[in-house]
Amino acid sequence: MATNKIYQWGIIGLGKIAHKFAKDLQQLPNAKLKAVASSDEERAKAFAKEYDAPLFFDNYDDILTAGIDIVYIALPNHLHCEWSIKCLDKKIAVLVEKPFAINSVESNWMKTAAINNQTFLMEAMWTRFLPTTNKLLSILEEGTIGSIITIKADFCYKVPFDANHRAYNNEMGGGSLLDIGIYPVYLAYLLLGMPVDVKVEAPKSRTKVDESCFMILKYPGKQTAFLNSSFVHTSNVEAYIYGTKGTIHIRPRFHGLSSGISVLLESGEKIDYPFVWDCLGYKYEAAHVMECLDKGLLESDLHPIDTSLELCRLLDAIRINGNIVFPKQDRVVTFENLEEEYE
Ligand SMILES: NC(=O)c1ccc[n+]([C@@H]2O[C@H](COP(=O)([O-])OP(=O)(O)OC[C@H]3O[C@@H](n4cnc5c(N)ncnc54)[C@H](OP(=O)(O)O)[C@@H]3O)[C@@H](O)[C@H]2O)c1
Repeated sequence: MATNKIYQWGIIGLGKIAHKFAKDLQQLPNAKLKAVASSDEERAKAFAKEYDAPLFFDNYDDILTAGIDIVYIALPNHLHCEWSIKCLDKKIAVLVEKPFAINSVESNWMKTAAINNQTFLMEAMWTRFLPTTNKLLSILEEGTIGSIITIKADFCYKVPFDANHRAYNNEMGGGSLLDIGIYPVYLAYLLLGMPVDVKVEAPKSRTKVDESCFMILKYPGKQTAFLNSSFVHTSNVEAYIYGTKGTIHIRPRFHGLSSGISVLLESGEKIDYPFVWDCLGYKYEAAHVMECLDKGLLESDLHPIDTSLELCRLLDAIRINGNIVFPKQDRVVTFENLEEEYE
């Protein structure tokens, strides 16, 4: 049920994605950007001016007492858990960037903090809230392509090696899998659930992050997903879903502002669903958070906390198989131990 409430938003970490999010937030009449926090005062001031936020801080702590209803955490991966919990402890609803956490141990701590504080928590898995994803799910539900046999999806873009960039920094949870590989993995998870087996090849950079990640996921019904991510080269960023009666092609970029979905049936018939966008794609997740809060929900009904936990477990399994390790954060390296964490 929609209310008349105007939600006061805050943003922590004013990098690239924070700009895109803030721009989209301006399209939502029930959202007001109230405060922004950066490690750099000039950046905070400029950002606040650009997006009309009355408060800005040169540190992250002060936003905790700025009277915001919802915080968008746009920090590098290794800070998602820490700052989500700090905000939840102040009863501030949290929308935290993907990946939810570095590993499933951290994700459990975040879930516990949300429950203990009875406060909303959601991963900013923006793909889930896009109209293209709703269309994809309805095409599949209608049985247009029969049942899924195989999924192929990639997300590769060239990031020149720079040991200081977060993408190549092991301690910050860098690497192609958590940065961009998460999208093909999420697509396969959304459509097929948890695999029974994963096979991974993940060549490493000098800084010991996966510069590429090639994945084969196998499912109980014998379905297979072929997925990959890379910083070494650029790809089309598209997805194919092969079914018993036809194929769905999600055109680039499949996880975001795709130009549309094409369906090719075995009969030769082609159906096209074009999409045009009036935003950067982030307003849908932000609107969803406010709808959930309007309804008094403590988590999303479309991307609940346990979905993020399961996705973290799947990413852990892929990392274990591909020997992608974050020594600072990982204290569990086997599935058996991970299972214990959940008991
Ligand atoms: N949903 C999407 O489409 C999407 C796209 C890109 C990235 N992401 C996710 O969003 C998060 C941020 O990505 P980004 O591309 O915005 O990164 P970015 O441009 O590097 O910005 C990250 C910001 O985090 C803050 N920060 C705190 N500690 C830092 C450290 N040790 N090193 C560098 N920055 C630090 C900085 O903000 P201040 O200086 O203001 O404190 C920095 O500007 C990541 O978790 C990433 O996975 C999501």
